[in-house]
Amino acid sequence: MSQFTPMTPPDRLQSLVQQVRPRLRNVIGITIGKGGEGKTTTGVNLSYMLAQEQEHLAAQGQQAKPILYIELDSNGNGRLDLKIHGGVFDDNGEGFVGAVTEDKSFKVLRNVKPYLDMTVAGAANSRLNAEISRLATKHVQAPYLMLAMLLAQISHHYAWIVVDFSPGDESAQRLGLAAVTHLVAPVKNSDDAMIGGIETVANLVSDVRLINPELGIAAIGFLGFRKVSGEPTSELEIVRVKIEVLLERADVNPEVVMKDHIRESRNLATACRNNGMPARELALAANEMLMDAKSGEPVPRPRYANGRLVEPDKALDLAEDWAIFTRDVITRVMIRNAELQGVAS
Ligand SMILES: Nc1ncnc2c1ncn2[C@@H]1O[C@H](COP(=O)(O)OP(=O)(O)OP(=O)(O)O)[C@@H](O)[C@H]1O
Ligand SMILES: [Mg+2]
Repeated sequence: MSQFTPMTPPDRLQSLVQQVRPRLRNVIGITIGKGGEGKTTTGVNLSYMLAQEQEHLAAQGQQAKPILYIELDSNGNGRLDLKIHGGVFDDNGEGFVGAVTEDKSFKVLRNVKPYLDMTVAGAANSRLNAEISRLATKHVQAPYLMLAMLLAQISHHYAWIVVDFSPGDESAQRLGLAAVTHLVAPVKNSDDAMIGGIETVANLVSDVRLINPELGIAAIGFLGFRKVSGEPTSELEIVRVKIEVLLERADVNPEVVMKDHIRESRNLATACRNNGMPARELALAANEMLMDAKSGEPVPRPRYANGRLVEPDKALDLAEDWAIFTRDVITRVMIRNAELQGVAS
């Protein structure tokens, strides 16, 4: 990290922040202050859809860059969703944690799907919190910037970097919050714990101002809510209003709440995870449009856990929801980036 000039501690911290921030504007964080709301599903599907877009650009002879998906959670479910769990490259997060906390070289798995790279998370990630906390007792805020500094050095290789991190461990969460510029909070439940989770995110944005003045909520999106004739039901409308009230209280623009949502489809979500395929890939496979790289033949049609074949039309509906979701998120992120660039110049 030689390009960062050493200085006296508080100045050095601010100088680091100023140096890394402009290089992290293509980094999107997926988080909410509560587990099980769909962070990994959202992180993986957003990454996959963005990677597909880049593949499409490349096929048209245009400039394209890959996407990098990073998970900080020790459950490492991203490994299941992207089909690398238990494989030769699955090191349970050892490499990633070593790179963040011990200055070991930062390695990514290339092309886990076309134009999609990832880092591996697993049991080792449970050490992240303790390691960062220990370093923070000596160096105050600086250790929270370790991931930000790593990503600042490689972000130009990527169209987008998506970081999926949870609320459980405060230090690990700060590590994520310092590295990303735009937050996307997924909401799957309608209870008060979820509302508390959104409140936590809103508070954290102000808590980390010193190490990340550009951080903001770009979008709050919903998944796993029913659609009737393509429209949300009153259950989702009630949740939406509750969140908007809370955001106004926390001085966050309620416009961040997304209009469209990902439909309820528990069977398909499970099939995605069990087959190691994001929704769009599952839909392509279910429609015999996903070709095996070696044989050139369509890959076998995916199945549910009970052995039934995934219905092609239902899979396409879910994939279309993720396509709309991705477009909306990226539009919001680009508007934020234009604002940040305006402020900086
Ligand atoms: N469209 C959907 N409809 C219904 N259930 C869904 C849908 N998408 C995802 N799920 C389910 O939601 C659950 C939680 O998803 P996920 O693992 O992405 O959450 P998470 O926030 O990453 O959880 P953790 O905090 O444990 O890391 C999973 O069981 C997944 O199958
Ligand atoms: Mg997860």
